[in-house]
Order: sequence, then structure tokens, then C-alpha cells
Amino acid sequence: MIGPEEEARVLAALRSGRLSLGPLLPEFERAFAERVRAPFASAVSSGTAGLHLALRAVGVSEGDDVITSPFSFVASANVAVYERARPVFADIDPVTLNVDPDAVTTAVTSRTAALLPVHIFGYPADVPSLEQLGLPIVEDACEALGAVYGDGVPVGGRGHPAVFGFYPNKQLTTGEGGMVCVADGGVKERLDSERNQGRSPDMGWLDHDRLGFNYRLSDVACALGLAQLERLDEMLEGRARVASLYRQALSSIEGLELP
Ligand SMILES: Cc1ncc(COP(=O)(O)O)c(C=O)c1O
Repeated sequence: MIGPEEEARVLAALRSGRLSLGPLLPEFERAFAERVRAPFASAVSSGTAGLHLALRAVGVSEGDDVITSPFSFVASANVAVYERARPVFADIDPVTLNVDPDAVTTAVTSRTAALLPVHIFGYPADVPSLEQLGLPIVEDACEALGAVYGDGVPVGGRGHPAVFGFYPNKQLTTGEGGMVCVADGGVKERLDSERNQGRSPDMGWLDHDRLGFNYRLSDVACALGLAQLERLDEMLEGRARVASLYRQALSSIEGLELP
């Protein structure tokens, strides 16, 4: 849903003359982090870009295994391949459609460098059980903005890098875009540098001290994101209403279990 608030914010951004790397980027990041109760957030050009940087940030590299869900959008497996790591698929729970922690446990080997659970259709994967395995976790929260774990922690606020996507079919859109929420300021610095061609914050445009990518989110997109964030509750309520209509309509089907 794009309304007059979005139009006004985007127009103001266009007229400001700061179309990228301007003040709206940190403003959007701070507002988003606060919303999901994460200490830090880094805005990126897509959910895929965010997942890629998050896997690099937890140390996944060539020859590693990343255990993930076979029931997902293709990007959650592709990002492991970007780093010449191997996606290993653990089977899903038939009711939640998210990875089954027992199947993940069975799939762990000495090559396992990280777990990448996906909160499919916005239903939180059983991350508290996966935490018991003591391995780095990257949460694919691309479909799960606004979701809350059973223990009351919002998805994005558990401390693992959690990646949200802002394609137009998501809870909040910036056209294209994404956000990586993290608990550690050092990890945020690395993400910010890698999304910006490997520049540190104090570096000139042609200075680079690590391999980087252009995974930046423009200020125009951040303006849209800020306006959308203000209406997030309203948009989530709309989705909840539709979900409850489906729940009612499907509830009489024998043998069907809904999470
Ligand atoms: C589960 C899941 N992972 C990753 C992505 C990738 O996000 P994006 O399309 O923003 O790159 C999406 C979105 O399409 C998704 O639904």
C-alpha cells in the first residue's frame, strides 16, 4: 500500500539533492532497529544482498556447509553458493513448514559453518532450539517483519544477524531493498563497509581496504521505507485479517493442521 505519506517523503528526498548516502539511511536504520528491538541495523539493496553479507559476517567461506531449508525462495540457498560454500538441506516440519531442529541436528558435521533457518511465510522457525547447537545462525527473516517468537522476542531481536526483505510483496516495501539486524557494532561496521565497495566510514570515495560490493540502499528508497514503517502496524493488521479469513475458511478440512 503506497499512499500520500510515501509520496510526500519520496518527493522531499528527491528535492533534498541527497539521493544516496544521505541522512535518511541512518534514520531508517535506527527506526527499523528500534522496531524489531535490535541494537543495530544495516540497510542493503535487497534481502539477497543482506543474506550474502550476513553469511560472510559469520565467517562462511569456501568449502563450508550451511544448513538451511529446502522450502524457501531460492536466494537462501544461493547465498551460500556465492561464497563457494554448500547449502545442505534439512527437512521441514509438516505443520510450520520451517526446518525441523532434529533434522538440522542430524545434518551437522565438522564442515557445518552456519545455520540459515528461514521464517517461511512469516512464521518464526524454531531458532531457540537451533541455538542449543552452538553454531553461528543467520536468520532469513525476509518474509517475517512483525513476527514475534513464542517467548515474546520480535524476529530480528535475538542477536543473530537477521535479514529482512523489502520487495513489494513483503510487509514493508522500498521497491527493492533489505535490512540486516545485528547485535554487535563491529559486525555492523563490516556490513556497512562491504555494502559500500569495501570503504570504511572515514575513507575517501576511491579508498577501499577490503573486498566490497555495491549493495547500498538509496536515500529515496529509505524515504519510502520510513513512511512505510510508520504504517507498519496498520499494514500488519490488514494481513492478520486476511489470515483469519483463511483460517476460518480452512478450519473444517479434516486432517489439516494449521500452526
Ligand atoms: C524467504 C526469502 N528469502 C530471501 C528472499 C530474497 O529477498 P530479495 O528478493 O529482496 O532479494 C525472499 C524474497 O523474495 C524470500 O521470500
